[in-house]
Amino acid sequence: MAEPLTLAPEAVRSARSLALGDADKSLLRFITCGSVDDGKSTLIGRLLYDSKRLFEDQIAALEKDSRRFGTVGDDMDLALLVDGLEAEREQGITIDVAYRFFATEKRKFIVADTPGHEQYTRNMATGASTADLAVLLIDARKGILPQTRRHATIASLLGIRHVVLAINKIDLVGFDRSVYDAIVAAFDADAGNYTFSSRVAIPISARFGDNVSSQSPAMPWYRGPTLIEHLEGVELAADGAAAKPLRFPVQWVNRPDLSFRGYAGTIAAGAVRCGDEVVVARTGQAARVERIVTHDGDLASAEAEAAVTLTLDREIDVSRGDLLVPSDARPEVADQFAAHLIWMADEPMLPGRPYLMKIGTRIVGAAVTELKHRVEMDTLKPLAAKTLALNDIGFANLSTAEPIAFDAYDDNRTTGAFILIDRFTNQTVAAGLIRFGLRRATNIHRQALAVDKASRAGAKGQKPAVLWFTGLSGAGKSTIANLVEQKLHLAGRHTYLLDGDNVRHGLNRDLGFTDADRVENIRRVAETAKLFVDAGLIVLASFISPFRSERQLARDLVEAGEFVEIFVDTPLETAEARDPKGLYRKAREGKIRNFTGIDSPYERPEDPELRLSAEDGDAEAQADRVVAYLVARGIVPR
Ligand code: ADX
Repeated sequence: MAEPLTLAPEAVRSARSLALGDADKSLLRFITCGSVDDGKSTLIGRLLYDSKRLFEDQIAALEKDSRRFGTVGDDMDLALLVDGLEAEREQGITIDVAYRFFATEKRKFIVADTPGHEQYTRNMATGASTADLAVLLIDARKGILPQTRRHATIASLLGIRHVVLAINKIDLVGFDRSVYDAIVAAFDADAGNYTFSSRVAIPISARFGDNVSSQSPAMPWYRGPTLIEHLEGVELAADGAAAKPLRFPVQWVNRPDLSFRGYAGTIAAGAVRCGDEVVVARTGQAARVERIVTHDGDLASAEAEAAVTLTLDREIDVSRGDLLVPSDARPEVADQFAAHLIWMADEPMLPGRPYLMKIGTRIVGAAVTELKHRVEMDTLKPLAAKTLALNDIGFANLSTAEPIAFDAYDDNRTTGAFILIDRFTNQTVAAGLIRFGLRRATNIHRQALAVDKASRAGAKGQKPAVLWFTGLSGAGKSTIANLVEQKLHLAGRHTYLLDGDNVRHGLNRDLGFTDADRVENIRRVAETAKLFVDAGLIVLASFISPFRSERQLARDLVEAGEFVEIFVDTPLETAEARDPKGLYRKAREGKIRNFTGIDSPYERPEDPELRLSAEDGDAEAQADRVVAYLVARGIVPR
């Protein structure tokens, strides 16, 4: 399984302790972004080369590789220096974030080399989360592209304060000032959409070094700094992570024996001292820090980025994923909030679909409840949208299955950022930046009702349950469900049947058959089924319900053991041959679009409680098998 990507790259942290030395020099973290051919790798190679941080053996290897792969004749190809993977070199694209280190007389640098290829926007968001500055590579011959706007938008959303327009390949346009001026003007026309505090535009030739580390004699009209001068001089944020209130996400509870109970993790922000009072953000329970334990012995205090184990002076309820914070500077705790989403998956975002959210060390179920808008990359204006596709940026309301503790991203880039993960593939589908919590979440409380599910079910003398029939159109779901309901009814059971065709005439009459509408169809039906279960009924739900995610959602809404997934496994050929409503024929003729099994997918259940097929006999026999299962499970008495 693919590992979900995290927004706070450990790589940067470990790099800090690397042999950068020069302890008194300040550190600038920056990212470079550009399209495939903008010359990004060449620029980074140039920076490393000019800063003389290249070792002899690396230079030797470079000369050799230039002969093998190089595209610049007899010169060394500086791009090869940074394109680490051979596969990448041959494809000519960079496919992963790599951190490079170099230093000049004045400053140390970590550059996240983020790929320019469209589908790798996700990697940019990863590399950018701790950066102070973004270098946007622009090919002087091409000017500002939608890709440039996308990178600038992401950099701005991510809170990067400084932006440099590195207008590259200026030699290929004859060092022409008017080209430079036009690009700067085009960028500035969009500037109102960004929140950068500084913008500097430098005409460069990464290949020949003009205006990278030395002033170019070919461009006397340019009076500004070279790229290196600017990187050395740009002002750094005064308020680093250590100056913020303490945020300690608990990664795991370390309990080797009864005498020791420690909470291990990496301090995300702020500092902690022995004796400080901390509270668990989720519950407000308080304790004092007793010890700060590390591999190299105890500390009196520790600050952001340190990996430590804290022990407390009393036993309180702390688990993995909790956030320890100061009692006087607590984060927000809510289960609904608004956030920017950078969509990174090939599958589109579907409102209502259950995803997993990883925020800090916590993982909870989450869904997009409402997409407010999508940012259109040609104009940078918000557009109404129903979904987000790969690389889209949107603004949305989300809700989580349980309240989470967070800060607004503007206040804290670590505790305000999250990722969304697909529940089945375990892939990261989006990066999110929390803008604010939604107040309504804190003001609607659940009513505790005096008559509850147990008493309602007890009055009917039965155990409530959901019998969820899934399968293709024409598979026989409704026929079997009808027979099962009749049998249960005769046996004195209290039932209710929810059927796709019927529900779509009322509750869901506004929904069609796009993926997004099917997700919403099942979400509403699942919530309805949950209410009927709460009423003490045995609910039969008969829906194609083609997606695993939403069947899982329906399952998760009720208690363990209350959900029975019944897969009516009729092959497409059989269902199509039956074609009870003539819909398959219309679908084949192209008169109905998005028809399940024809041009819309059906994801087979992997582990249903019951699988019914022709081997079980006709619908009557299949219904008997369902009833027998319910008896065996004790849902229906003998
Ligand atoms: S679901 O995919 O959202 O679960 P649901 O079970 O509610 O679908 O509705 C399926 C029924 O709608 C089918 O049995 C069929 O009668 C009808 N229908 C109309 N158009 C379509 C379509 N494009 N795909 C599938 N079913 C359709």
